Amino acid sequence: MRRPTELPAPDADARAHSERLAALIGKAIADAGGALPFWRYMELALYAPGLGYYSAGAHKFGVDGDFVTAPELGGLFATCVADALAPVLRQIGAESVFFELGGGSGAFAQRALERLAECDALPQRYLLLEPSADLRQRQRERLHANLPADLCARVAWLDVPPHEPWQGVLFANEVLDALPTTRFVIDDGQAFEQCVGLDENGAFVWTTRPADALLAQALRHVERGLESRMPDGYRSEALPQLPFWIDAVAGTLERGAMLFIDYGYPRREYYSPERSDGTLLCHYRHRAHNDPFLWPGLQDITASVDFTALAQAGTRIGFDLSGYCAQAHFLLGNGLGELLQAAQELPEVERLRLAQEARMLTMPEAMGERFQAMGFQRGVDFEPAFAFGDLSGRL
Ligand SMILES: C[S@@+](CC[C@H](N)C(=O)[O-])C[C@H]1O[C@@H](n2cnc3c(N)ncnc32)[C@H](O)[C@@H]1O
Repeated sequence: MRRPTELPAPDADARAHSERLAALIGKAIADAGGALPFWRYMELALYAPGLGYYSAGAHKFGVDGDFVTAPELGGLFATCVADALAPVLRQIGAESVFFELGGGSGAFAQRALERLAECDALPQRYLLLEPSADLRQRQRERLHANLPADLCARVAWLDVPPHEPWQGVLFANEVLDALPTTRFVIDDGQAFEQCVGLDENGAFVWTTRPADALLAQALRHVERGLESRMPDGYRSEALPQLPFWIDAVAGTLERGAMLFIDYGYPRREYYSPERSDGTLLCHYRHRAHNDPFLWPGLQDITASVDFTALAQAGTRIGFDLSGYCAQAHFLLGNGLGELLQAAQELPEVERLRLAQEARMLTMPEAMGERFQAMGFQRGVDFEPAFAFGDLSGRL
């Protein structure tokens, strides 16, 4: 495990907050008989009511936070995504719904709604599913402060995905990487689930237990796809519950498209022999490291997305794959170049800012290749949004 070096120390209040969450997790470990599966540790660290990283008031996004997401850089990302999804909303017509999962600060929803209004493709309703009460409040305040009343009136927050059949688009940026992940290790040819226990000083430590049937079957399925066994000592992550999760969020989408953008790899690269310690990554004040036990509640914990698993989960519930490509190709295929061209008319300061934003979104060493876009469709044509840089042959 790579230990973080030279991380800025949290202040006394932040430390006290983290200690309260650590005590709550410690009690959950004791109540569970001495160990919790890692996914449960991650769930509590990120989402324990009032204390978890996403549930409490930490800054999270932007320069003063821990990491920057594409919609936080400026308006280009949301404009291109809105342009990609507008044709689907038009195919559906007046009843269309835009369903965003995990809206963060509300930056994406604000710009997407503005752009859909500009190009006459407004959905009848814009629904947000946001498990964090703190972020929900921030989204509400931002949209009310910045959008005209007729756009605000279309926005509503859901506690659970729609029960009734609906038509429209589902969008999620950097949500799959925030789902509590199962971690496993191979030992003596067998799969073990990595769990979190407590040492004699009450500090979190890794422990293992034999994989249950769901995890063991999910890993056998992965290995069949790879046509090889993972070697002893190999550690990584898996989301055996992903098919159920996709069904829960999109099972009632009877006609429309889904778009997921996140960092990850097709399966062969995800489980490559070199990536023998998995993809777990923590973000604290713009530093990345992989110690999930450090300051619970003060840092984000993520795992990359296995896009092959996502493709299988989406098609299993009856969607067709529309396309899969790097974020850079997706944005360039949906109007990024034209937006920059039009910006030539703007004052130099704004033009340079947009050029810098576009570089962050598209450069391979920034977000351009590590982030990838995957689309699905049912009863609509979303394929034109994936005209460039098709990667589906690597799935
Ligand atoms: C890394 S942030 C990304 C926020 C935003 N999409 C952006 O790009 O700035 C992850 C978001 O997903 C939300 N989230 C986590 N689990 C979720 C779930 N099961 N359903 C919906 N949203 C979820 C978090 O609360 C947070 O808003």
